[in-house]
Parts: sequence; C-alpha cells; structure tokens
Amino acid sequence: MDNKLFIFDTTLRDGEQVPGCQLNTVEKIEVAKKLEQLGVDVIEAGFPISSPGDFNSVVEISKAVTWPTICALTRAVEKDIIVAADSLKYAKRKRIHTGIGTSDYHIKYKFNSTREEIIEQAVAAVKFAKKYVDDVEFYAEDAGRTDNEYLARVVEAVVKAGATVVNIPDTTGYCLPEEYGAKIKYLCDHVAGIENAVISTHCHNDLGMATANTMAGVINGARQAEVTLNGIGERAGNTSLEEVVMILKSHKELNIDTNINTRTIYPASRMVSGLMNMPVQPNKAIVGRNAFAHSSGIHQDGVLKNVQTYEIIDPKDVGIDENSIILTARSGRAALKHRLSVLGMELSQEKLDKVYQEFLKLADRKKEIHDDDIMVLAGADRSLNHRVKVDYLQVTSGVGVRSVAALGISVTGEKFEAAAEGNGPVDAAIKALKKIINRQMTLKEFTIQAISKGSDDVGKVHMQVEYNGNCYYGFGANTDIIAASVEAYVDCINKFRDENII
Ligand code: KIV
Ligand code: ZN
Repeated sequence: MDNKLFIFDTTLRDGEQVPGCQLNTVEKIEVAKKLEQLGVDVIEAGFPISSPGDFNSVVEISKAVTWPTICALTRAVEKDIIVAADSLKYAKRKRIHTGIGTSDYHIKYKFNSTREEIIEQAVAAVKFAKKYVDDVEFYAEDAGRTDNEYLARVVEAVVKAGATVVNIPDTTGYCLPEEYGAKIKYLCDHVAGIENAVISTHCHNDLGMATANTMAGVINGARQAEVTLNGIGERAGNTSLEEVVMILKSHKELNIDTNINTRTIYPASRMVSGLMNMPVQPNKAIVGRNAFAHSSGIHQDGVLKNVQTYEIIDPKDVGIDENSIILTARSGRAALKHRLSVLGMELSQEKLDKVYQEFLKLADRKKEIHDDDIMVLAGADRSLNHRVKVDYLQVTSGVGVRSVAALGISVTGEKFEAAAEGNGPVDAAIKALKKIINRQMTLKEFTIQAISKGSDDVGKVHMQVEYNGNCYYGFGANTDIIAASVEAYVDCINKFRDENII
C-alpha cells in the first residue's frame, strides 16, 4: 500500500461553519495561501450553492492558489453540482465533493427514502459530477453509523461510477477507534474495485475521539485524512491537522508520510485562531500555549538534563520559536515584524506602521506583550474600514452608585454623542450606543475572556446581536473590558446589511 497520506483541509468549509468563525473572502484567501504554504494536498474551499459569498470565495481561492487541489462541496443534487463546477472554473486542480446520508437514520428520517434509492441517487450524482471534473469525491454522510455491509455496496457502486475518493465520515463522532478502523478495513477487504479509489477519513470530535478514529482509519488503509487547523469545526470540531501530522512524524514505525511542512504549523494555527476569533485552548496538543511548557520542578530538571526525558516533539519542528523575544515598550518595528511573521502575518509597511503605533500604546499599559496581544493588534487593524467607529467612551461606575456612560461615535465620518445610565458599566455604555443607533437590536450572547494572565491583560469580547431576523457576530479587544464590549457591539453593527445605519 502507498505510504503517503493525503491531507485534505476543510478549515474553510467544515471549520468555517462554526457560528462566529465566518471569514470574508479576503480572509479566506489569506488562510488558503497559508494552507498552500503548509503543504496540504486538498483545500475544501466552500459549499458554493449555500450562498453567493461561499461561491465567490471558491472562485477567488481557485485563482489565488496554485498547487493544492481546490474542492467544492455539494449535495447529491444536480443544481449543486452545476454551481460547484462553475465556482471551480479557475482552479488549476479541481475536485467536486458530492454525497448523501447512508445511515438508516438519514435514509428514513432525513430523506424518507430507501437504501436502493439512495444508491441510485449517489451513483447519479457521481456520474453527473464526472461530466464536469475528473476528480470526484463521494461522501457517505453518517457512515460511522451505517452498517458495513450496506456501506460497502454504496462505496462499490460509486467507485464503479467513477468516484476517485470515497469519504467515510463519522459525522456524529460516535465511533470507537477500533470500530472505525474495522470499518475501513472491511471496505478495503470487501469492495470490488476499491484499489481504484482512495479511502478518506472524516471524523468529528463529539466524544473526543476524532484523532484516534482518524489514526485507526489510516492504520487500516485510509490514505486521505480530512482535517482542520486547531480542530475547529461544528460542535466539538473536526480532527486536528496538526495532531495527525505530528503523530505520523513521531511514529516513524507506521511508515506513513505527509507533504506537510511542519514548521509552518504554528504560524498557520495562530493565523486561523486570530482571523476566526477562536482561541486555542491552552492545553491543546501541539499548538496550545502550554503544549511545550514544563512547569513542574521534576519535569524542568529532566528537560534541562536531556530534553528527550519529557519532550517527544521539538517545538521548532512545529514552528514554535523557543527563543521568541518577549516584546516590550522598548522593542522596535523589526522585532514586531519578526514576531508577526512567526505568527503567520505578513503586513505591508503601511499596515505595520499602524499596528506598531497601537503596539506602543499597549506596551505603555502592559509590561510584556504576548503573541495573543499581537494577533489582536494586527486583527484590530481590520476595523479601520468600519463605517461606525467609537471616538470616545467615558464610564462612571462603582459600588453604591448607578453606572453612567458618555459615548461618542462617528458614522461614516459624522459625529454623534449620547449618555445613558445602566445597571452596570456595560449596560450603560450599550444603552448610550442604542440612543444613537436606534434600532431593534437584541444582545444574544456575550463572552469576555482574558488573553493571558494578569490584571493588566487585554480582554477579548465575543458578542452576538440579533437584528432584523439575522444574528451578527462581533469581536472587540481592549485592556478596558467595557471599551472591548462596546467595540464588539459596534463590530456587530458594522456587519448589518442596511445602507443607512442612523
Ligand atoms: O461530517 C460530515 O459528514 C461532513 C460531510 C458533508 C462530508 O462534513
Ligand atoms: Zn463534517
């Protein structure tokens, strides 16, 4: 069996489906270019029929990316396939990923259909997609809960119809590793013609077994793994790219390789986390802040004597710069530029100058500037194009007094001011904002997070505001959490589709 594992990255499709993680086309291109640099074989760029934005992103990513195959998702429906083929017209290498649910739950409740009809629809979709592209991947949704005998019939039929890759998703993250591995082996052993297609894993992490299941699939014959950076994805997420790649690099005895340039893993992880406003849990394998931090005395002693005592991966192998200089108010532009590039962000001179000015302001308030702060600063630059901007905010609050806020904002350059009282400083500030932007807006979700440690830390605020039947996601970051909250609210407002906001 071939010993190369193809890495199929679905950060921009399954990952991007997560509420709050939506990217615009420019940001998606940035991620796609990073994935190309990382060395992924396939980029799933979107689900083109789902929205004009998704369609456009697939078109633009196809133009921007040279080496990886660009893949577009469809249902087993002709109009989806036509739109996907159209979106891929500029791709140098293209793939249509079509499929249908094959578990009895899907057949009975989702489609009100029969097993035979599902096979017919699957075959018809693959044949139809073959009219547009040579490379057609078929997914058997909820394959994890599909019985192996029937799944083998479906796979045999679609391979015969021309599918080049067959994806076996554990859509609900239900399988045990042994069970999922046995499923892949069953297909290898029982599907006539399986040598004409690559078997792909696509595991979700609902029970924390996505990586274990993917590895079980690979050990039993799958040669493509569908993954996302940082394991992002709906619910508990998808299999993490970095985990699968580093398992294979660490376990040489498996004799399976990928094309991934592992030294770009960390910058890519930071870029995705920053752009999607999705923090990485500190103890996340490979890319978490603590992944290589030995804090217990016994470990530190062992690592100092011989690093292999407690460390199985050299942090440099995943692009973590151990000698990373902590930036302070005395750091120059060059140090900031270097740190940003380690974190995967290459800024133009003009943008770097703006971020540097913000950096100096923050460094005045905070002794040490960490990677997360820098990402926020570089990301904060994205708000420069906002039509609604906060000019100033003054809040009085405390114990035994009612909070009062005075707020000044500009809307496409025009200045507005308001003051309001509230039952807390955030409430007062948002009431003042609502006096100016007098719309029926409802705050649905509000999360405050500190970026690292210390009372001088930057606070990140994630918000969801419902307006006119739509939910908008906003983000703000500031050492003042009241200001961060108002910034996040204003970020939501900037995404409203109305021409005139006032
Ligand atoms: O989890 C899943 O089944 C999927 C398919 C659409 C490939 O994401
Ligand atoms: Zn999925």
